[in-house]
Amino acid sequence: MTRKPPTPDHGIMARKSVAEVVRGGEGEDQPMAKTLGPFSITAIGIGAIIGAGIFVLTGTAAARYAGPAIMLSFVFGGIVCGFVGLCYAELAAMLPVSGSTYTYTYVTLGEVFAWIIGWDLILEYAMGGATVAVGWSGYATSLLHTAGFDIPPALATAPGGTIHLPGGGTATGIANLPAAFIVAILTILLILGTKQSTRLNNIMVAVKLVVVLGFIILGAAYVTPAHWHPFIPANAGTFGDFGLSGILRGSAVVFYAYLGFDAVSTAAQEARKPQRDMPIGIIASLVICTILYIAVAAVLTGLVPYSQLNVADPIAKGMDVIGITWASVMVKLGALIGLTTVILVALYGQGRVLYNIAHDGLLPKLFARIHPTLRTPWLSQMLIGLLVSLVAALTPITVLSELVSIGTLVAFILVCGSVIYLRRSEAEAFRPFRVPGVPYVPVLGILSCLLMMAGLPLVTWLRLAVWMVIGVAIYFFYGRSHSTLRQPTHGT
Ligand code: ALA
Repeated sequence: MTRKPPTPDHGIMARKSVAEVVRGGEGEDQPMAKTLGPFSITAIGIGAIIGAGIFVLTGTAAARYAGPAIMLSFVFGGIVCGFVGLCYAELAAMLPVSGSTYTYTYVTLGEVFAWIIGWDLILEYAMGGATVAVGWSGYATSLLHTAGFDIPPALATAPGGTIHLPGGGTATGIANLPAAFIVAILTILLILGTKQSTRLNNIMVAVKLVVVLGFIILGAAYVTPAHWHPFIPANAGTFGDFGLSGILRGSAVVFYAYLGFDAVSTAAQEARKPQRDMPIGIIASLVICTILYIAVAAVLTGLVPYSQLNVADPIAKGMDVIGITWASVMVKLGALIGLTTVILVALYGQGRVLYNIAHDGLLPKLFARIHPTLRTPWLSQMLIGLLVSLVAALTPITVLSELVSIGTLVAFILVCGSVIYLRRSEAEAFRPFRVPGVPYVPVLGILSCLLMMAGLPLVTWLRLAVWMVIGVAIYFFYGRSHSTLRQPTHGT
């Protein structure tokens, strides 16, 4: 197909066609290895989804907002992600290129918006990975403590972070070294090969599923049904303080536990049959996790009165009720492994998104360079590892985590919008998977994501705005003049 090169005047509106994306998805010098089947792809999804959310936030949300009705919060969160997941499935099968939302935006809103959303995805993947690495550090130090080995708290806390000393008094942190350590190890693994990384991911996903299932099965026998009454505790006077509004607030909190299913779409270029396996991977991982989450919430609130669940390790607290002493260590180990896979997939996804951006010329080509024998984007992966470990070691994490959520929600909204747009603009394109009920399902996805965003503090919106302004500046200083699509020779 020949394409008239966009003139500078129309440069920022320059957009690719679906056919162009499907044809042009390969690397600069080497293609990526196509090694992934439906099992590994689903495991990538579950690897990215089950993490800190279920192991930590379930208890907080039940104790503070929803009571036993946290089960309904999970149902609601699962439905919202279901709308969005269906939209991802349609686009990932139709455009099997690993740039995810960045690629989808390139064919809908055009280059400048694609860049902005690619920049936004750094919040979801790189910054998300850093947030989870800090959670990993907390579990690792606690397990090491159980094993009789203590890491000095100042070396496991970011600068400025407060440490409560055992004898009273406080100190401040120097750097969170365990967080940087896990990022470094996983980066090396990802450089060595996608197949090796996904093999380890599969094993770790199996272990965390065993832990979660073990909790559900063992715990079910010890449930006290009286703890489920009242199922929806009466509202205590303000919005979100139990009652129906509490269920809604609870779902905004536990929404975090679902994030990650979209990472499946970043594996499209390494899938053997992406058109079949992308929808399978996205929908299967989401369905499996939704069922497990609702079951965990039911068992947990049946084991422990909800008012006692506002602790850092609610699942371990549930295990204490069962009375198996080794079980809480097992849960911590499961959580640690769970968090490891979340970081692994975040680093992986970031590498694939940057690969596509660089392939289009909006970032230096080194991000698209594939190692001749390892067949991975090694240089890019190394730079990402360096950045994420520095952020994880040095940044107060509370600032980052809400930014991760809002950044991800923006990407979700664009994906739902892209489905509606492309159904009109590229009505004839081959769609191996079609979202049912268009435009209603994508519109419901957009509205529910906006509802979730509305629940986030104003300061988070402002931080997002600052991040985006930096992104726009980079586009005008670098991307605009280097864009492959805007080269006069493009498409000739
Ligand atoms: N869903 C991921 C987690 O819960 C982000 O850790």
